[in-house]
Amino acid sequence: MDLELRTPGIDELGSVLTALREWQSDDAPLQLHPGDLGWYRQLGAAKAAAAVRTWSRDGRIVAVGMLDGPDVLRVTAAPRHLHDPALARRMAADIADPDRGVLPAGRANVEIPNGAALDECLAEIGWATDEAWTLLRRDLSTPVEGPGLRTAVVGPEQVGLRAALQRSAFEGSTFSEERWHAMASGPAYADARCLIGFDDDEAVAVITVWSAGPGRPGLIEPMGVHGDHRGRGHGRAICVAGAAALQELGSSSAIVATPSSLVGAVATYRSAGFAVLTELLDRHREA
Ligand SMILES: CC(C)(COP(=O)(O)OP(=O)(O)OC[C@H]1O[C@@H](n2cnc3c(N)ncnc32)[C@H](O)[C@@H]1OP(=O)(O)O)[C@@H](O)C(=O)NCCC(=O)NCCS
Repeated sequence: MDLELRTPGIDELGSVLTALREWQSDDAPLQLHPGDLGWYRQLGAAKAAAAVRTWSRDGRIVAVGMLDGPDVLRVTAAPRHLHDPALARRMAADIADPDRGVLPAGRANVEIPNGAALDECLAEIGWATDEAWTLLRRDLSTPVEGPGLRTAVVGPEQVGLRAALQRSAFEGSTFSEERWHAMASGPAYADARCLIGFDDDEAVAVITVWSAGPGRPGLIEPMGVHGDHRGRGHGRAICVAGAAALQELGSSSAIVATPSSLVGAVATYRSAGFAVLTELLDRHREA
């Protein structure tokens, strides 16, 4: 049967999350994770659904994309379809043609799992390589050490602190209490935790971790340290605390992707016991 490209309705996001969960594995290349949709949900259910594209065959979702901004598509396929040439050709055609409602005309970036057939298909039609991402993983099969920092799981009373930490750690961030509540009311957050790290009574660091279910890799998205409290080991500590939270949720590993240009972030994850898996290059169309 033909492949069908769709933008799911809000009520269909649950099945998209289920597919993405099932595809996470320590054997598969790092790819779009339920936590990416979960984090995007801060913009509300309608915008989260409008950002998603699915490709289905015989009524089953075989690939999922998420528009992480108007001209950035992050996309993945079920592990057994990552090398399917027919699917890759069709996805490349859909992605490249502005009339098909995936990406608009002009400059665009696509993030694709390493080695997926889609990468080659986009290269064949002239898409160049672009921004480099470093993929890191910490195995969780052995107990995680104590972080050396007091942490608290964010509940209703800490939402203001959590939002302020986000804005301090990420320049230009407009994260707010309202956005946190929108995110936390989404279905993916049932398997997630936000942690705040405290130095004495000062909130200094934040991390959000997303489980994809027991025995599967869990995702860090995002992690940051307050601008006034950097260089004191808090980044390392909050990453260790996040890894421990994922271990409690049953994750097999903690994974994260960060722009390779953020050398401090890569150094921080490595310092917290994460190993570099690989580097991934976006595909890019100039115009
Ligand atoms: C990246 C960030 C979390 C680091 O926090 P931090 O509290 O300053 O980091 P730490 O003090 O715990 O440092 C951990 C390790 O990283 C190294 N490191 C931290 N920042 C660095 C930088 N800018 N350049 C090089 N190394 C750096 C430290 O030397 C340390 O190494 P060591 O353990 O081998 O001695 C912080 O700068 C930040 O919040 N940045 C903005 C948000 C961000 O980029 N988040 C990550 C992407 S989601």
